[in-house]
Amino acid sequence: MYIVPSSTAYNISRRLANILSCNVSNVIRKRFPDNEMYLKIIEDLKGQDVIVIGNTRSDSDIIEYLLLLDAVKEEEPQSITAVIPFFGYARQHMRYNNGEPVSSKVFTEAINIYADKIISVELHDEQTLTYSKVPFINLKIIDPVYKYFLNKNIDYVISPDDGGYERAKTIASKLDLPAYYINKKRIDSKTVKMELPEVDYSNKNILLTDDIISTGGTIVRATKLLKENNANKIYACAIHGVFALNSNEKIEKYVDELIVTDTIETKYSNITISNELAQAFRNKVKI
Ligand code: R5P
Repeated sequence: MYIVPSSTAYNISRRLANILSCNVSNVIRKRFPDNEMYLKIIEDLKGQDVIVIGNTRSDSDIIEYLLLLDAVKEEEPQSITAVIPFFGYARQHMRYNNGEPVSSKVFTEAINIYADKIISVELHDEQTLTYSKVPFINLKIIDPVYKYFLNKNIDYVISPDDGGYERAKTIASKLDLPAYYINKKRIDSKTVKMELPEVDYSNKNILLTDDIISTGGTIVRATKLLKENNANKIYACAIHGVFALNSNEKIEKYVDELIVTDTIETKYSNITISNELAQAFRNKVKI
């Protein structure tokens, strides 16, 4: 068995390879003078079970990932499992307006050409799963998150919006803590007001959980509000640390600790999802 890593997924590939006791394949990468991407897998993958791991956060990530899948398929492996810890282009999981593409369908269908199974993590919307003809697993990451906070003296787990309340409740129940969510009210097209639930925040340590941190606006606004209400420590934790526009630098000024998983490899990736990926690969997760 081999893991073929994209350039965005070296650390997580090594962690998964350790758990599954398999090899990480060597990939040569070059750019042609016109900047087109070239890659070559060194190992002979004929008859092997192969996991191809990569994110699809940027356009270049997507090209690399598709080239890797094709290179692997040409080797005639026994099976290909596409592991995409952060499935980018998933925001557009449906057509909101005429003339728009359904980007998560485009990419899912492209992967279907190559893969026997797809594993991803906390997709933006589960509608993306319906675009796949091969089994597509969307992992929810709970255990490594709550375990990280076991000894942090957290008082409440809070989601910055109602959409993340289920996640907050599940993590809170594992920590035997109450969970709440912040009510977001749209005042006009540019203004969203956040309203905290009526709870005593004085000197409380709060775990703010979200699926994704992109511009950081959501986490920063929630943190400011909690601090205005005399909260003590704010731990901001998300599954995917996209950190668009270097928002991590802004967030660090407000929160006491910023933690994300290694779906995207950042310096805040103190939680690994590799055990969950291994379990899903071994078919221990229901589809
Ligand atoms: C919203 O539905 C999501 O759960 C996140 O709260 C949101 O995408 C975070 O985005 P940003 O970091 O740009 O505020």
